[in-house]
Amino acid sequence: MAKPTILITRALPEAVEARAARDYDVRHLPGPDVTASAAAILEHAAGCDGVLCAAGDGFTAETFARLPDSVRIVATFSVGTDHLALDAARARGIAVTNTPDVLSVATAEIAMMLILMCARRAGESERLLRARQWEGWAPTQLMGVTLEGKRLGVLGMGRIGQVLARMARGFGMRVHYRNRTRLPPGEEMGATYHGDDDGFLASCDVLSMHIPGGEATKHWLNAQRIARLPAGAIVVNTGRGTTVDDAALCDALRSGHLRAAGLDVFAGEPRIFEGYYDAPNVTPLPHLGSATVETRDAMGFRCLENLDAVLLRSAEPPHRVA
Ligand code: DGY
Repeated sequence: MAKPTILITRALPEAVEARAARDYDVRHLPGPDVTASAAAILEHAAGCDGVLCAAGDGFTAETFARLPDSVRIVATFSVGTDHLALDAARARGIAVTNTPDVLSVATAEIAMMLILMCARRAGESERLLRARQWEGWAPTQLMGVTLEGKRLGVLGMGRIGQVLARMARGFGMRVHYRNRTRLPPGEEMGATYHGDDDGFLASCDVLSMHIPGGEATKHWLNAQRIARLPAGAIVVNTGRGTTVDDAALCDALRSGHLRAAGLDVFAGEPRIFEGYYDAPNVTPLPHLGSATVETRDAMGFRCLENLDAVLLRSAEPPHRVA
């Protein structure tokens, strides 16, 4: 029997590409390995049975409307789905799947690393050394803050938020959280639930954001909410950049109301808000949340599990989001 044909929009880890080539006729987008435009996807999806895409690729409502009838599934190499017009996929009867669970630890590690870097001024310190400007140890040099005893506010207590909470407890932090629903008592592990934003924000010495992108969460962290954070708070975002009002965050970092920010995600990636480039108290990372060998392999295999279900077994894919 002929193998189904899939379009892979990005270069994937070797083991994942090898497994894909074993079971499918694989087509790749030509050209550099960058976020795939709607035009490129449509040009190369002709005759494909499925598409394996990644975060940021151009799956707008129009892309879904114009995909060839042969496409039965779009499997995204991400847990986030804000780049996919899910309603339009449903309207065409195209299954859409994501990669939950497998990136929770890696992403929580990046959040914890950013919290530490912000608290202990790691970026500033490294820049000082690399600029050959360190003149020796001094009692008041580059003093940060200790995490032990501080309150970590987790916005979005899903899988990643819960792993981060576990890590932060190891540093002696007290965990507060804001979530659509309260966790069952057995899963809270002593964390304090907040049913409203004001009480939550006032309890964050460190705010770590883990909410999805999209219209509903756009600029959630705006000037009003930033003002509710205690003076000297740290903000970390490893969810989606669109959830932050960048100008308001930069203002608060410049005025000193906020101590520091650690950002792994940005609206309009790979370009980032101009003010972040020069702000000494911002630690920016190029969307590294899931970037470990183990995690990226697991994400790829999860995509293949979903493609296999639909294209090899005509079965329900295990991680369907539309
Ligand atoms: C995701 O999975 O949504 C990440 O942002 C990309 O790794």
